[in-house]
Amino acid sequence: MIWTLWFGLFAALLGSVAADTYYDSDTGLTFSQGFGLYKVDGRGVTVRIAIPTGVEANTAYDAVVQVVVPSDVGWAGLAWGGSMTKNPLLVFWRGSNNSPVLSSRWSTGHTAPTSYTGAQYTLYKTGTKSNSTHWQFTALCSGCTAFNGDSGLRYISPRGGNRLAFAYSPTKPSGNSNTSSITVHEVHGYWNHDFTSAANSNFVAAVEKFQK
Ligand code: HEM
Ligand SMILES: *[C@@H]1O[C@H](CO)[C@@H](O)[C@H](O)[C@H]1NC(C)=O
Ligand SMILES: *[C@@H]1O[C@H](CO)[C@@H](O)[C@H](O)[C@H]1NC(C)=O
Repeated sequence: MIWTLWFGLFAALLGSVAADTYYDSDTGLTFSQGFGLYKVDGRGVTVRIAIPTGVEANTAYDAVVQVVVPSDVGWAGLAWGGSMTKNPLLVFWRGSNNSPVLSSRWSTGHTAPTSYTGAQYTLYKTGTKSNSTHWQFTALCSGCTAFNGDSGLRYISPRGGNRLAFAYSPTKPSGNSNTSSITVHEVHGYWNHDFTSAANSNFVAAVEKFQK
């Protein structure tokens, strides 16, 4: 009894310094997650990433991304390479029919990003839902983990931490077109995302069961 108590405390301490992981029963995947705070009251965008196990370093691999978005977000974005420029950007907002719009973008400077065909997102019904305060989506990305960055070809490491970035705007783009224009963000930020704990041995089997 005392042992379990101490073990519990120890595990809680470990949890606070180690990676934050989340098992999602909708998808059957374990995600490592990061949080981009955009309001002092604690509101933020939760970004979850799952990848296959055993990925070789310096290779391109698919990733499942699940994002939880508070309802007041106009648009928000994820920068896979951890900065605004020269890396795959995923911009997302809630379309007029309430379904998530995902847009693949790229920017060479601090100006509105343009379409990027190097990354493709497949949105799934599995893991995509909403309630009165939040909406969330689940998508597979091909092309998010390898790209031509500032100093040539760059791979996001399948193990260890990678710096990711997010941006938040309260202004919703108009309509459901993934090429709609977006206005500049109010907040941007970074976190270190642990990819080691994003690995799932059932990755391929789980994704095959997702509903489109
Ligand atoms: C109309 C669209 C956008 C405009 C006009 C814009 C403009 C800017 C500007 C002017 C800065 C410099 C701010 C400063 O130095 O304080 C900046 C920084 C930044 N932006 Fe954007 N941005 C846009 C979209 C995005 C998107 C879609 C993302 C990510 C998903 C993003 C992520 C960032 C990040 C992480 C920074 C920090 C500096 C850096 O990493 O380069 N931005 N942006
Ligand atoms: C928009 O969606 C289409 C169809 O899925 C896709 O082919 C295209 O690459 C997407 N464009 C952007 C900017 O995300
Ligand atoms: C609302 O939905 C979000 C996203 O799925 C979830 O994280 C949150 O726990 C839900 N809130 C409640 C009160 O169920």
